[in-house]
Amino acid sequence: MSATKNKQGRITVPALRARKGGDPIVCLTAYTAPMAQRLDPHCDLLLVGDSLGMVVYGMDSTLAVTVDMMINHGLAVMRGSKHACVVIDLPFGSYQESREQAFRTAARIMAETGCAAVKLEGGAEMADTIAFLQGRGIPVMAHIGLMPQQVNTMGGFKSQGRDDAAAARLIEDARAIARAGAFAVVIEGTVEAVAHQITAEIDIPTIGIGASVACDGQVLVTEDILGLFSDFTPKFVKRYANLGDQISDAAATYAAEVRARQFPGEEHCFGIPKTGPLRAVK
Ligand code: KIV
Repeated sequence: MSATKNKQGRITVPALRARKGGDPIVCLTAYTAPMAQRLDPHCDLLLVGDSLGMVVYGMDSTLAVTVDMMINHGLAVMRGSKHACVVIDLPFGSYQESREQAFRTAARIMAETGCAAVKLEGGAEMADTIAFLQGRGIPVMAHIGLMPQQVNTMGGFKSQGRDDAAAARLIEDARAIARAGAFAVVIEGTVEAVAHQITAEIDIPTIGIGASVACDGQVLVTEDILGLFSDFTPKFVKRYANLGDQISDAAATYAAEVRARQFPGEEHCFGIPKTGPLRAVK
């Protein structure tokens, strides 16, 4: 077992933590085993994000995602991957009440999935919880800036750090989280200069999503980059493929062939037995 890989050969949390200021950390979301299998060779970190509520379940926010959902999808991603460090989101309402509640939820998710760490949303107000978890064997990735679980208090999915006071608060949040012992922090939907300053100031890796290329790594929602989720495409998404269109085309061709009795063809059938009573049946 080396310092960078665990017994199963996966990248470890300390190895990611040590990437501060080094090679950018590559992270994508994953919710299923086949997707995890495809992404795993290319990623350092696979995030089972609670964005699955919107992307997989068609919810209009992440608020109704449950711990059981995160565990089921987390297990699938663990089964489909062997190289990347897997981090699972704590869903809304499963950790904000107290540090003890956060510990119970995180411990259950880690014990039932075998993931390496959990992620939670929140700034300075979560520092005590982060320290509590970290001190009890639960590595925490924090998440500041645009926090989808706070959509109702933030008044929508809006970029953050737009004025001096908001920027100062965000920088203070990042400092508090780093002091509390988070091993990395996601900065979402945040003015570039603020993400830049946070990255320069704190000693843990920053993972940007709509933040800045200066961050120590980047994360995006996989379905967004593949063109599989089109309900809402934030400015910070770059589309690397158009699988949504390919799926529509494939389904349309299949439907046309079924209706025209062109599918299944002979090559898809089990054929006619050479002997016996079915011989004559066409
Ligand atoms: O839930 C999620 O997928 C996330 C990422 C977008 C960072 O939190």
